[in-house]
Order: sequence, then C-alpha cells, then structure tokens
Amino acid sequence: MSDTAPVDDWGTDYDILDPEYVRDPAPVWDELREGCPVAHTERWGGSFLPTRYDDVQTLVKLVPELSNSDPLVTTPPPEVIEENQANPDDGFVSTLLAGTDDRGEPIDPMRVVGMLNLLLIAGIDTTWSSIGSALWHFGTHPADRERMAAEPELWPTAIEELLRFYAPVTMGRLATEDVEIRGVTIPQGSKVIMNFPGANRDPEMFERPDEVILDRPHNRHVAFGAGIHRCAGANLARLEMDIALRTWFDRIPDFEVSAPDEVTWAGGQIRGPRYVPIRFPSAS
Ligand code: HEM
Repeated sequence: MSDTAPVDDWGTDYDILDPEYVRDPAPVWDELREGCPVAHTERWGGSFLPTRYDDVQTLVKLVPELSNSDPLVTTPPPEVIEENQANPDDGFVSTLLAGTDDRGEPIDPMRVVGMLNLLLIAGIDTTWSSIGSALWHFGTHPADRERMAAEPELWPTAIEELLRFYAPVTMGRLATEDVEIRGVTIPQGSKVIMNFPGANRDPEMFERPDEVILDRPHNRHVAFGAGIHRCAGANLARLEMDIALRTWFDRIPDFEVSAPDEVTWAGGQIRGPRYVPIRFPSAS
C-alpha cells in the first residue's frame, strides 16, 4: 500500500496527509469517535490516532510512558553555541548554557540547540497558522466578521473559540512501553498522534462543537495541549492573536475571501491556511 493511496477505512488506514483530511479533518474525527476512537494506520511509519477528549487528556498525561523527546537535539551545535561559549553574555543562550537541569547537572549544549530549535518551530508556524485561520474564518463568515467589528469586547472569548475550532498543533509521542487505552494496546515503540484539534471537536465535551460561537462561555479546549508539556508560549500566542486581529479589524474591518476554492491548507503537525486571496470591498 502506497502512503498516498486513497483511504477506504479511516479506522485502520488513516492518512493525515490525505488531501480531504488536510482540507477539513473534522468529518473524519466524527466518524472515528463513533466507530473507532483510537484508530491505527501503517502509513507514514505507522501511528495511533485518538479522537475523544477524555482519551487525549489521559494519554497526554502518560509521562514518561509516552515520550516526546525531540530528535532535533541530535543536530550539531551551530556557531551560535560556540560563540556563546567563547564569549558568554547575559542573553538567553548564555543563560541556558550556564544553567543546570532539575538534577543539578549542566545542560548539554546539544540540548540547548534542541530548545532553541523548539522555540523557533513552536513559536512561528503556530501563531501565523492561528492568525491565518482566524482571518480565513472572518473572510468566509460575514455575520461573525460584522459582529467582531461591532463588539470588539468579544475578542477574549472569540480568540479562545478560534483556538478551539482551528487548533493548529498536533504533536507526536513515542511509546516507551505498552500502553492500554479504551481496549486498544499501543505497543512499545509505536507513535501516537496527540490529536488536540480532534479532542476540541468532541460533542461529549463541547456543545455544538462544529460551530464557532464567538462568546462561548465555557471553553476548556486543549489547543495548547495539557499536562507537563502544555505550551510554554500560550499567553504570548494569545497576545499575538489579540494584537494582530484587533489591528486588522481596526484598519480593514470590511474584507472577504475572494476565491474560496483557491485557498490551500498546510497538512501535517501544524495546520493552517497557506494561501488565502482576500478582497477589501470598500476599497474598490
Ligand atoms: C496559537 C499558537 C500556539 C499553539 C496553538 C501552540 C500549541 C502547543 C501545543 C499543543 C503544545 C504541546 C505539545 C505537546 O504536548 O507535545 C505546545 C508546546 C510548546 N509550545 Fe506552543 N503553541 C503556540 C504558540 C507558541 C509560542 C508563541 C511559543 C513560544 C515562543 C510556544 C512554545 C512552546 C514550547 C516551548 C512548547 C514545548 C513545551 C514542552 O514540551 O514542555 N508555543 N504548543
């Protein structure tokens, strides 16, 4: 079976890079939640995919049984490390290099490289994906756009709701031992997809999960994960979304997606729109 062959059975052969799944994975999560809440595939190296909120919450807290150790730490130290070792200053890199871990041991420079890589990856694609999804939403849902232009006091709940609905980040784990969940054994050495976006659409947890409700009062979404690896930049991300969206609405409250069929979405671990043609009607 080629990794790119069409999917017949999502429960046993899902493909997170299938074009339909990349465009809108929510119908697949709905189907799996009902029929096969912990799905498995051999595609792309093999993995397990939970879709229920409770299961994602359980799995994300299984540390160290499910490990997220970062393969990027094996990359060679770049010049920035050597420069900082030769000429330490009071900046972030020098502080990490001079620091100790939770056992009081010096932090390996390779691990510092991993932390810097993680910060760059975790901090950039994530926020422009979530801001892009929000602009796509308002550019295709005029009633919501008009409401935000008229009621800017809704931004705090609206941002949480956009994070829930368009949660951009799906992380992976490696099972360091056999793990049981909902009658399924995830064998040691298997990959598990931490499906935070799917958990955010679980009807057992959220009323009307497939609607964007800009003033949703209770919203315990897991767009930022949960447990000890919960996003370290969550409040920075919220601030970036708040500033970007308020500034956009202050300056150009009247806009629309001009060619919805031309919009493209990035698949994989960070989901968001990559090409969104926008028209500003009041400027024409
Ligand atoms: C909307 C934007 C963002 C979303 C949705 C998001 C989401 C997430 C999620 C789901 C995780 C948990 C991963 C896991 O359980 O393995 C995570 C981890 C992390 N995020 Fe974010 N993130 C965002 C923005 C940022 C920003 C702006 C930064 C920093 C500049 C950042 C830094 C990190 C770091 C360092 C971790 C790893 C924490 C750990 O493993 O202990 N994130 N993020």
